[in-house]
Amino acid sequence: MNTKRKLNYKLIFMILIIIIIVIAGIIGVRKYINYRNSYEYKLKNVGYTETEILDILKLENSTIDELLKKKYNRLNIKFIRQKYFLTKNLENYIQYYNDHKDDKISHIVSMVNVSADNDYYDEDIVKKADISKNELMLVNKFHYLDNTYAPNDIVKVSNQFAYGDNEIKQVVYEKFRSMYHDAKKKGLSLIITSSYRDYNFQKKLWDGYAAQKGEEWADSVSARAGYSEHQTGYTLDIVTYNATMSNFENTDEFKWLQDNAHKYGFILRYPKDKEDITGYSYESWHYRYVGEETAKKIKDLGITFDEYYAYYIEKN
Ligand code: DAL
Ligand code: ZN
Repeated sequence: MNTKRKLNYKLIFMILIIIIIVIAGIIGVRKYINYRNSYEYKLKNVGYTETEILDILKLENSTIDELLKKKYNRLNIKFIRQKYFLTKNLENYIQYYNDHKDDKISHIVSMVNVSADNDYYDEDIVKKADISKNELMLVNKFHYLDNTYAPNDIVKVSNQFAYGDNEIKQVVYEKFRSMYHDAKKKGLSLIITSSYRDYNFQKKLWDGYAAQKGEEWADSVSARAGYSEHQTGYTLDIVTYNATMSNFENTDEFKWLQDNAHKYGFILRYPKDKEDITGYSYESWHYRYVGEETAKKIKDLGITFDEYYAYYIEKN
């Protein structure tokens, strides 16, 4: 009787051990399968090191998925670590790097993100501007408006605020007036010198510059017809009394705009030292309305609208 009971205990004990082994096995296999499916394993297989993988894992899953489709390149990680890295541009960053080895990596990212690694107005690269973005639409040397495009709520600007005849979008006019009155309280005068310009007007302007000093120079200071953001109705050229466009940057009005324009939704569109990103010479007088929130973000980030659009708007 005693031996039988002992045998029974032994059997139960063995069954328990077998169950434990089976459970541990299942857990082990599941863990292994999970590991095989993990980004860590897959990235390791592509060739990334452990420290590189730690940085890659900070990226969004969709970005990592894209990255996994590409071959390992030791340069990849340099670009991945950049704030404005866009996976879709990885090959172009590397191509641009190969032709500009002394360039800063962050600058290469900016150049490629805004398509400035291509020739301006390149037929294969240019796209129609996305007008559905309204005050956030991008019009530059790679994004154009049709020759018939005209904003739908253009209003006349009173002579009190401008030199000559000017028209601008309603919202921009309201924001400008509010900015004008606040500047006035500080003894400063803001004067609009150019505003909405239609396709044909822009064409005459550019043709005039080209006839005067050649096409290359015209391209550095003026947009070709269809490629000017003046055609959007969201742009104002602002100067003050006794200042031309070229010396506006030395005025108190300019300094005030530097500190305050964003509060009314305006950004300086073609900043100094960003010529290769924007494609235009520095224009201290050219202000683009993008709305208060975006204007503040762009000012805080210290980037151009072209870069902002590529990373924060077009990406989504
Ligand atoms: N001057 C700016 C670039 C324009 O023509 O739109
Ligand atoms: Zn302008």
